[in-house]
Amino acid sequence: MAEPRVIITIDGPAGAGKSTVARLLAAALGYLYVDSGALYRLVGWQAAENNLSLDDAQALSAFLERLQPEVAADTQGFHLFLNGREISQVLREPRVSREASRVAVLPPVREWVTSRLRHLAANGGVVAEGRDLGTVVFPRAKAKFYLDASLEARAVRRRQDWQNEDASTEKVARELAERDRRDSSRAAAPMRVPADALVIDTTNLNPQEVARQCLARIREVFPEIAGLEMKTG
Ligand code: C5P
Repeated sequence: MAEPRVIITIDGPAGAGKSTVARLLAAALGYLYVDSGALYRLVGWQAAENNLSLDDAQALSAFLERLQPEVAADTQGFHLFLNGREISQVLREPRVSREASRVAVLPPVREWVTSRLRHLAANGGVVAEGRDLGTVVFPRAKAKFYLDASLEARAVRRRQDWQNEDASTEKVARELAERDRRDSSRAAAPMRVPADALVIDTTNLNPQEVARQCLARIREVFPEIAGLEMKTG
């Protein structure tokens, strides 16, 4: 019998280790890695580039009707292209994080991203990370994870990602705290722990250990999924 190709969700705040763990799981399962934050980043970045107000739901809604990115996903990467040009790199810039979290409060933006995510996962076989994947986008997924870590640990990790940025760990921590506040207090799809998620505090764990715990849970929920050997590359 063919193995089921299911949907795995990983939610949690920035710097909790979602992307690294999601890629380890995608590699172990041979699934696509889906980064929902990249789509919010795309909208925030494009809104700013086109001088649209980041709080104007109506203007953004009209703009999104014309925004048609191409997506290329595999086990390790989630690449976005606009007009034939790869834009994944610019989307990782710190200012785009702020733009993304502002547009992410708007319902039309959330609907636009959610419908793309569901389309990408139409045949299953995805490990999808974000803030609302287990609660809103894929509420019926059976293997859900929520990763968290202390604000300090998250700021240290994020600062390492931003090697070229001149920012202290304290400044990065303030930015993360501000984003956490906005992401968890918004009315539309706030960041929440899904009721049926396995919660893992990654403060003192390396990504391989976190992925091992996730794979153990996936084996429990789906005993029929074989080939769960960790490929840490
Ligand atoms: O995950 P990442 O840091 O790239 O996400 C950027 C921003 O996009 C988050 O701070 C959040 O505001 C928004 N986001 C969201 N829902 C998701 C993924 C990201 O609101 N599922």
